Amino acid sequence: MTARIIDGTAIAARIREQLLVEAQSFTKRTRVRPGLVVILVGDNPASQVYVRSKRKACLDLGWYSDVIHLPAETEQRRVEETIDKLNADPLVHGILLQLPLPDHLDEQTLLQRIRPEKDVDGFHPLNVGKLVLGLPAPIPCTPLGIQRLLIEEGIETSGKFAVVVGRSNIVGKPVATLLMRKGPGGDATVCVCHSRSENLPQIIRQADILIAAVGRPHFIKGGWIKPGATVIDVGINRVDDPDAPRGYRLVGDVDFENARAIAGAITPVPGGVGPMTIAMLLHNTLWCAKNLTA
Ligand SMILES: NC(=O)c1ccc[n+]([C@@H]2O[C@H](COP(=O)([O-])OP(=O)(O)OC[C@H]3O[C@@H](n4cnc5c(N)ncnc54)[C@H](OP(=O)(O)O)[C@@H]3O)[C@@H](O)[C@H]2O)c1
Repeated sequence: MTARIIDGTAIAARIREQLLVEAQSFTKRTRVRPGLVVILVGDNPASQVYVRSKRKACLDLGWYSDVIHLPAETEQRRVEETIDKLNADPLVHGILLQLPLPDHLDEQTLLQRIRPEKDVDGFHPLNVGKLVLGLPAPIPCTPLGIQRLLIEEGIETSGKFAVVVGRSNIVGKPVATLLMRKGPGGDATVCVCHSRSENLPQIIRQADILIAAVGRPHFIKGGWIKPGATVIDVGINRVDDPDAPRGYRLVGDVDFENARAIAGAITPVPGGVGPMTIAMLLHNTLWCAKNLTA
């Protein structure tokens, strides 16, 4: 059996078209154009690529978007002032602090400085609490994108055994929460694994749905996958490739070629979860704009 490839690029494009129409009718009704501002501190090359594509995605829909690029040595106080200004700016509905930050900055303090109503990443403790309680709030983009992929692909989650490998605040914990919540794309029985988990291959072998968010190239082997399982590969890892134009290529956390022969459905890297993350950022920006305008 060869797994069905889940085309995240195509699904994300459809979602963006829906958001364009939804935003047009919102703007017509309210005269408000959704606006997103990204704060980038330092010169991390991967962050620069992500920030550019986030801004472009907004501009493509005709929304307001800007990037505030601060030097790597910017002091905490200066970043806080930047956030305060954006919190007060009526043109800005979404504020995104691009991670990772330089080591001297206190990430949690800065994330908590963002008004929860403008927290398009869903990282503010108030929004994390709402996610756990099942209350309306912006939900972290990558986990929301993963759940949406499952729903759009018609993959049943209710009653299924889902294994999440990784327990980060950005991916692992929120995606596990979403999968266990009541409703579409939820109601799964969820197991979360991490670097201290024992017998990982045996646990993964039971998964009807596997979410891999480890950050290690090809860490999960094809032989660990349950036949017919759905595999969502969140990992984005650069590996050297002298034949590639930039000298590297991107691979996921799952040994794609071998897993593909066993799984029922699988996301590629790139072209799986990545485009969904951007689509959900747009979704959250419009959600915040509507909420702030109501
Ligand atoms: N597609 C997208 O849009 C998108 C978005 C966000 C992230 N990503 C990618 O997703 C991957 C994960 O990101 P992240 O931010 O969640 O990373 P992270 O914060 O580094 O977390 C990695 C997790 O993997 C666990 N882990 C590490 N080694 C392990 C092992 N040997 N066995 C089992 N678990 C292990 C860690 O366990 P401990 O907690 O015990 O250390 C940790 O919980 C990265 O490749 C990142 O680039 C992609």
